[in-house]
Amino acid sequence: MTSAPDDAAERHVPVLLQRCVDLLAPALAEPGAVLVDCTLGMGGHTEAVLEQVPTARVVGIDRDPEAIARASRRLERFGDRFRAVHAVYDDIGEVVADVVGGPVQGVLMDLGVSSLQIDEADRGFSYAHDAPLDMRMDPTTGRTAADVLNTYDERALTRILRDYGEERFAQRVARAIVRRREQRPWERSAELVEVVRGAIPAATRTTGGNPAKRTFQALRIEVNGELEVLERAVPAAVDILAVGGRLVVESYHSLEDRIVKRVLAAGATISAPPGLPVVPEEDQPYLRLLTRGAEEASAVERETNPRSASVRLRAAERTRPTPPHRRPTHRPTDRPHDPGERTR
Ligand SMILES: C[S@@+](CC[C@H](N)C(=O)[O-])C[C@H]1O[C@@H](n2cnc3c(N)ncnc32)[C@H](O)[C@@H]1O
Repeated sequence: MTSAPDDAAERHVPVLLQRCVDLLAPALAEPGAVLVDCTLGMGGHTEAVLEQVPTARVVGIDRDPEAIARASRRLERFGDRFRAVHAVYDDIGEVVADVVGGPVQGVLMDLGVSSLQIDEADRGFSYAHDAPLDMRMDPTTGRTAADVLNTYDERALTRILRDYGEERFAQRVARAIVRRREQRPWERSAELVEVVRGAIPAATRTTGGNPAKRTFQALRIEVNGELEVLERAVPAAVDILAVGGRLVVESYHSLEDRIVKRVLAAGATISAPPGLPVVPEEDQPYLRLLTRGAEEASAVERETNPRSASVRLRAAERTRPTPPHRRPTHRPTDRPHDPGERTR
């Protein structure tokens, strides 16, 4: 992997940066307050919090060892106010228990991939560079994109392309992927770009950028189990917030935003059946929504930072401890991954 030491700031422009800081800052005003940045990336959001909120400390989590290394260099000057942890963010409960030892005042999630990951030509995230079909955010573990392409059957591939990539021609692309591997196994991203291009009707190819974009997004989400991890992580994040603590989540895919919306809405709603004269204390909401619906980036930000075009930001504040019967629980994804769908 190429590695220029001090360019982290230039490689990734954080989305809705000031809005995130403004939402989190009131919860971080007491000395020693802790923010968990679940998606440290290049450390852009964390740096802004550490600069603007002198009382705050940050624990930064990332599953990508390269992101941990770069952000750690960038944030070295903050000394022990910053601590980096290599982990998957659904382990937030364990990380906080180990590093903080009690509830925290803020949690930030800025989902998806960083510009660094897209730009690193050898990681296979980008349809613009020929590379091994890897796409793992943590390249030390788990299945690669090539493994998915070489082992999933046509039905499973179609589902992934349709649900995660919103690919209109999911079945055609899936069929072409399976047909191609009958000759030789999948290895390189340029071959995938070519096969996707060939599978999509010529008349629709002129609009919407590179036709392989949706396939690459779908594979990345599958390879990294992004939605399953998020399903576990959002309730876990709510769980470790102190009363008065705040959670801010930036999603870039409608399925991500749906997960976040559901968990926050459940915590902000009375759980008693309607019509009771007095709502019991235990059925009162334990979250207060800080955003009306999902916030989007301004036209100006969208123009200067294309990554911001699809962002949906939601935030909530913990208003009281969660009664045991209302602990935010992990619900399985709408369409759980079925290992039986794989062919070996
Ligand atoms: C959009 S970037 C974050 C950028 C960051 N906010 C900044 O300002 O530089 C997302 C980061 O989250 C990491 N990531 C994505 N899913 C993760 C997961 N489940 N656990 C831990 N890190 C994850 C990625 O490796 C990537 O570095």
